[in-house]
Amino acid sequence: MFKIAVLISGGGTNLQSIIDAIESKQINCKIEMVIGSREDIYGFERAKKHNIDTFVVNKKTYGEKFSDKILELTKGKVNLIVLAGFLSILEGKILEEFNNKIINIHPSLIPSFCGPGMYGLKVHEAVIKSGVKFSGCTVHFVNSEVDGGAILLQEVVPVYFDDDSKTLQKRVLEKEHIILPKAIKLISENKIEFIDGKAKIIK
Ligand code: GRF
Repeated sequence: MFKIAVLISGGGTNLQSIIDAIESKQINCKIEMVIGSREDIYGFERAKKHNIDTFVVNKKTYGEKFSDKILELTKGKVNLIVLAGFLSILEGKILEEFNNKIINIHPSLIPSFCGPGMYGLKVHEAVIKSGVKFSGCTVHFVNSEVDGGAILLQEVVPVYFDDDSKTLQKRVLEKEHIILPKAIKLISENKIEFIDGKAKIIK
């Protein structure tokens, strides 16, 4: 059974989309654990409803050992780490041990509107301020560069002149909930190849 760890920092609607995709048999995998970056996040409620083990790894508590603690919890236990709204940056050994086995969902069309400090509503505010007519979301592999790993899937949404960050966030989130489970399915079925640093979906 393909096992995943899902890392969260907030409401967990992306976690919920993975739970729902498993329940509906869209993807054949098991959420082995949910790791949150602090105690009081609603995403834990979603995990507990489905008897999924939860752990808190708080950057303030672990400091520079933060990523190593997550590695300790996941090494040998899961095949893939999924960052689903996880707001801390993973670094060090975990990136080697889980090379091309960590994915992240970002609420813009990378390489636009991403990188250090670009998360949550800040992304959508920047998109609206820029005047672009399309935005969207990206699932990418995680490496040492923030939002810099190989892009796996993207979905596009229109940006309307009257949008504010909340209306745009809602439209993008709907697409996030589609491509994140889809990405997990592709990886669990071994349908990804890496060529010249880019991720190719093989049929
Ligand atoms: C999503 O917009 C995701 O793209 C970003 O953080 C948000 C998490 O939302 N990384 P949720 O906690 O999954 O509802």
